[in-house]
Amino acid sequence: MTLLELAGKNRSTRRFRQNVRLSRKQLMEIIEAARLAPCGANLQLLRFTPVWEEELCSRIFPHLNWAGYLKEWDGPAEGERPAAYIIIQMPVEERRHFPVDAGIAAAYMTLAARESGFGSCMIMSFGPGPVSHEAGSPEGYSPFMVIALGAPGEEVVLEEARDGIEYYRDGRDVHHVPKIDIKDLVTR
Ligand SMILES: Cc1cc2nc3c(=O)[nH]c(=O)nc-3n(C[C@H](O)[C@H](O)[C@H](O)COP(=O)(O)O)c2cc1C
Repeated sequence: MTLLELAGKNRSTRRFRQNVRLSRKQLMEIIEAARLAPCGANLQLLRFTPVWEEELCSRIFPHLNWAGYLKEWDGPAEGERPAAYIIIQMPVEERRHFPVDAGIAAAYMTLAARESGFGSCMIMSFGPGPVSHEAGSPEGYSPFMVIALGAPGEEVVLEEARDGIEYYRDGRDVHHVPKIDIKDLVTR
């Protein structure tokens, strides 16, 4: 598969096959992609917290907010919740490069996960205090992003954005993600 094909398949997944568990070793292989990613001044100050235990996953889940555009949906139900998480931890002080670094690391990790057959969703709408309380953070760090992971349990398709950019689900429960045409993205 080419990188573009992988990127095309790498849609945010919000419903999983919860009973397909990921091991710590599998999460470490995904985090290895973040280790190889570029970062500002090569500082490498982000930290990554893998969460694979069923019980800890269930304590993190209530603090995450899902799919703001799907107003009628309360998030994944029991049985379709993430089977693992990777929490990107950011230094509380001196945050200049770090949000960019975190985005790059997240992109690398979600692509690595997809290559291994796992779906993922980057989540920035969450309670950092409770997530830190449950999963822990190194001294001087707080959670910046939570990446939810698991075996995909939903169909997600790309489509050309015609009537706006809000994702939606159709009558067959397929999740549609409108993307703007490349000619409307480039400036010359
Ligand atoms: C920085 C960032 C923050 C996001 N935060 C959330 C979130 O809090 N909850 C959620 O359900 N999805 C979240 N997403 C997923 C986006 O909604 C998703 O990327 C977007 O709808 C496009 O779909 P796609 O990832 O399949 O291309 C986030 C994505 C990014 C890149």
